[in-house]
Amino acid sequence: METLIMKPSDNSIELAAKLLRQGEVVAVPTETVYGLAANALSTDAVNKIYKAKGRPSDNPLIVHIAEASMMEKLCCDIPKLAYVLAEKFWPGSLTMVLNKRKLIPDITSGGLDTVGVRMPDNEHTLDIIKKAGIPLAAPSANLSGMPSPTAAVHVFDDMKGKIPLIIDGGRCRVGVESTVISFIENGVSILRPGAVTAEMLSDFCDVKIDDFVLNQANSGVKPISPGVKYKHYSPNAKVFLVEADDFHFKNYVLKHNGEKVCAIIKQENLDGINFYSYGDDDKQQAAKIFALLRLADKDGMEKIYIHAPKKDGMALAVYNRLIRAAGFDIIKL
Ligand code: TXA
Ligand code: MG
Repeated sequence: METLIMKPSDNSIELAAKLLRQGEVVAVPTETVYGLAANALSTDAVNKIYKAKGRPSDNPLIVHIAEASMMEKLCCDIPKLAYVLAEKFWPGSLTMVLNKRKLIPDITSGGLDTVGVRMPDNEHTLDIIKKAGIPLAAPSANLSGMPSPTAAVHVFDDMKGKIPLIIDGGRCRVGVESTVISFIENGVSILRPGAVTAEMLSDFCDVKIDDFVLNQANSGVKPISPGVKYKHYSPNAKVFLVEADDFHFKNYVLKHNGEKVCAIIKQENLDGINFYSYGDDDKQQAAKIFALLRLADKDGMEKIYIHAPKKDGMALAVYNRLIRAAGFDIIKL
């Protein structure tokens, strides 16, 4: 199959909506990462997403909506707090896990009784959802296990020949996937951190951070969010996450230096080593990290030493992705 890449226009949005109505898979831009979208209410259409990604079928998909009223058509027993958070954070990087109604097929929810819903903050994708007239199931548009795509070319690299259309909305502003929350007594539990931070949510309710945000899921305990079980966000190169101050980080990397070794650093420069800088601001780190992991692969790197981000604000989201990219191989100096 030929994979078209089209900039957003009346024509391309109309085409995307038409393909989605016909049960095809289309990659769409969001403010977080690119999504691999299909009709959330069709088992056949959603099956095509799992096939294109090579994704385990017990890992549920997020359903994307364009109007908050759609939430009631898809979900039941919605807590009052969900309306408050939707009003405050939608459109935006917040996915709420709610009890699903029967019209959502098992394949979309990975066999769970719940479904994650979010309204993405991208005018073109909101347009596509409205024109198609259906909610869109959309995981990140990468091959399962690879870093999430934050530019259309990343989607093309992973999906060429597998899907008919990519809508190229440019670089994703946020760069890491949405915050996923579930509802607990008096508040919410963060299952996956993102741009809507614990600090922001705590203005509205109690906020718990699920154990799996910072820890590895082991086979004994069943995580609430099935996605945490799987290898994630990993380029082909081996990733090492190094928690250290500037001085010790630099010394450590120099000691392990080599032709196909590189570092992702917070400073602007690191003499004597292949480096990519992701800055020391949490938003900037989030916006750059996945693209840099992919770039290191393209440049033929075999080992990537990453100077670990902090764990507050949006940096927690970056840290959460990187401990997984590193297979929980964290070097603390
Ligand atoms: O920003 C995003 O959320 C992007 C864009 C495309 O919207 N999508 C995304 O989807 O990251 P995906 O499939 O790559 O990640 C969805 C995460 C997984 O970790 C999954 O386990 C969790 O959300 N999830 C989805 N539905 C859930 C549910 N019903 N209960 C618990 N976790 C759920
Ligand atoms: Mg993903």
